Amino acid sequence: MSELDKITLTAGGKAFDLPVLQPTLGQPCVDIAALPKESGCFTFDPGFGATASTKSAITYIDGDAGVLLYRGYPIEQLAEKSSFLEVAYLLLNGELPSKEEFAGFEHAVSHHTMMHESLKHFFRGFHHDAHPMAMLAASVASLSAFYHDNLDVDDPADRKMAAIRLIAKMPTIAAACYRYSIGWPFSYPRNNLEYVERFLHMMFEVPSEPLQLNPVAAKALDLLFILHADHEQNASTSTVRLVGSTGANPYASVAAGITALWGPAHGGANEAVLKMLEEIGSPDNVESAVRRAKDKNDNFRLMGFGHRVYKNFDPRAKIIREMCHKVLAELGVNDPLLEVAMKLEEAALKDEYFVERKLYPNVDFYSGIIYKALRIPTEMFTVMFAIARTAGWIAHWIEQHETPGARIGRPRQLYTGSGVRDYVPVDKR
Ligand code: SDX
Repeated sequence: MSELDKITLTAGGKAFDLPVLQPTLGQPCVDIAALPKESGCFTFDPGFGATASTKSAITYIDGDAGVLLYRGYPIEQLAEKSSFLEVAYLLLNGELPSKEEFAGFEHAVSHHTMMHESLKHFFRGFHHDAHPMAMLAASVASLSAFYHDNLDVDDPADRKMAAIRLIAKMPTIAAACYRYSIGWPFSYPRNNLEYVERFLHMMFEVPSEPLQLNPVAAKALDLLFILHADHEQNASTSTVRLVGSTGANPYASVAAGITALWGPAHGGANEAVLKMLEEIGSPDNVESAVRRAKDKNDNFRLMGFGHRVYKNFDPRAKIIREMCHKVLAELGVNDPLLEVAMKLEEAALKDEYFVERKLYPNVDFYSGIIYKALRIPTEMFTVMFAIARTAGWIAHWIEQHETPGARIGRPRQLYTGSGVRDYVPVDKR
């Protein structure tokens, strides 16, 4: 089929053309800027299932083929050969770093890992059982109060500094959320450790004795961070872009992304999956769980299943499922929930309801089983997702600010409220 360069519509008997924009990969997009003037109509697309909100060169997804590329590199290759920090550099800069470039990036990140001592007082205001995502969102939003020296969103150097600070401090703040919730003293980052080892050390070290880091755990978490680093215009990334489009500072924009990620339909699903598996409890209960998931009168859903874009296996879920067996075996962990998950997947993928709707396991279905094996508490699962996704969020935030002519995001609506009417005095109502 020849390359589509326009589509022709008719409105009120009048035909008009709308230009079609061609991508490097994937689906072309109809530029509808002229639609209201030509037809007097807006488009209507709640949930944005058919709407491209922006151009972007960062991540590409082919939902039908189950393809995920970061800056053109297949996720399978990055998972096998790269590290999270190298992937963060790739997402931010568009190219894999040379040895020197990576050394400079790693040095910059490792020298911005501490949080301001005053930020620790923030935590005192939380009840000990506050959800860590609430503490994370509030703490990240407050970073703009500590780093107002580099907040000119139009200055590339300030944008880069904010990216370094966010990627560097997210693990420190995340570990503080966990340690506050269990009444442990905060832990300081160790610059002699690599990114993920430094995080695990801050999570689990105790002043009373040295922590023996497990390389299997560090490798597994680094791989999970790679897989969660970015994913095109998902709900939380779109939130970061929308907030960023108003000129809000990067810390406020990323804090908005954290709150969007928290929802169980999005990043909060990994915590919900583990709770669902625990509720199902045994492979014998899988059939009834699948029945409930199909029952429209029951709001039970198979958490970790389905995806707006993937109508095939989520390539990340495939990698994580294989990791589950390997990591649990290497750690000597035997978790009965893995068998429940495998049985659930097997039952759902044979069931017409799921097959017809192309509902497959997504990135959140198996990740919690690995987090649990790494002794990360369930309520911290979405915090793990947020640490990784910070790289993607800030890369999109920077890309948006580097786009000439970028405008504030301001969708329209289909108004269904009352027509014009006059005010009625209270004694006449
Ligand atoms: C993430 O966008 C991203 O890229 C997100 C993410 C990323 O990396 O940023 O990939 C991370 O958020 C993964 C998704 C995590 N969420 C869950 O696992 C929650 C469970 N999944 C669903 O709630 C749902 O599948 C969504 C939210 C993921 C997608 O929702 P859609 O695209 O709006 O699909 P839908 O709700 O319209 O469902 C279509 C049909 C419906 O049935 P019918 O109306 O056709 O009869 O499929 C059904 C739904 O009821 N359905 C499910 C289901 N998911 C969809 N039925 C049972 N269990 C499910 N999990």
